Amino acid sequence: MSGIVFFKTGILSEIKEFYIEQVGCRIWMDQGDCVILSHGNFLFGFCKRYDADIQGTITFFFCTKDDVDIMYEKLKSISSAKPELNQNYPIYNFFAKDPEGREIEFQSFTEPPGNYLTCDELLLTRRSIRQFEEKPVPQEVLESIFELSRYAPTSRNTQSYYFKLIDKKETLNWIGQTRGDNSAPIGRAPLAVAVCTDPEVSMRYIQDGCIAAYHFILAAWSFGLGTCWIAAMDRDDVKEVLKIPNNHYVATITPLGYPAGTIPEAPERKERFFFVKQ
Ligand SMILES: Cc1cc2nc3c(=O)[nH]c(=O)nc-3n(C[C@H](O)[C@H](O)[C@H](O)COP(=O)(O)O)c2cc1C
Repeated sequence: MSGIVFFKTGILSEIKEFYIEQVGCRIWMDQGDCVILSHGNFLFGFCKRYDADIQGTITFFFCTKDDVDIMYEKLKSISSAKPELNQNYPIYNFFAKDPEGREIEFQSFTEPPGNYLTCDELLLTRRSIRQFEEKPVPQEVLESIFELSRYAPTSRNTQSYYFKLIDKKETLNWIGQTRGDNSAPIGRAPLAVAVCTDPEVSMRYIQDGCIAAYHFILAAWSFGLGTCWIAAMDRDDVKEVLKIPNNHYVATITPLGYPAGTIPEAPERKERFFFVKQ
């Protein structure tokens, strides 16, 4: 479910061009004398009329402070002041005016906001994260991620998977050194999650576990939390330390935490035609 905020405008084509070229919005639907634009999951429309709505503020938010600075560099000439931390709210922001005089605001949050990514953004921006901030993951965020993860598909809806939360520094360090560089991200995270399945519950326990793990990974990213699939964790020593029954399957153990530093660029992907065979 979603919604759209509409504004009347006297200069539709100029407004459309401004929001697309300068602000980076996309056309979501063109209805002729009304155009609906998207900025992430924010939908807003302009309809050609004789008068214009210029009340209120249209606020665009970004993932990082750097993104706000980039917008400022672009819109400096129409901005009222440089971006700054606003002490009243946990934001970093600046204001500008659109060609019709509407107030527009650009901001990032200094505290992690709730989840807001579109499906495209979620799938395109998720990365394997291997460096983490020390910042703790709030309990309610963890609960929301596990709640979303309940909807992973499983063979015959057996729901054979479960998540084992690992938060002891000593255990994280120990698992982190089991596979050298391959597992090291676990030792750098404030938390890790072992995604396990019970073969007695599902014949397709491997698929169930892998799908549940990826569901969890996407849910975590939607809240701005980094993960990394660490392979080959279905090991006796790991299961013993984590008190996971030896016959259970460990699909992966992923570190979990807020990414430190810049999010890496996506490693190069093959073109679509390569994957789609006739
Ligand atoms: C089955 C599987 C095993 C992986 N094993 C590891 C691993 O042991 N250690 C690691 O750091 N990354 C591991 N990765 C992460 C991949 O390196 C990563 O997904 C790939 O380079 C693409 O980058 P992206 O996830 O940022 O798009 C694994 C990913 C998958 C799907």
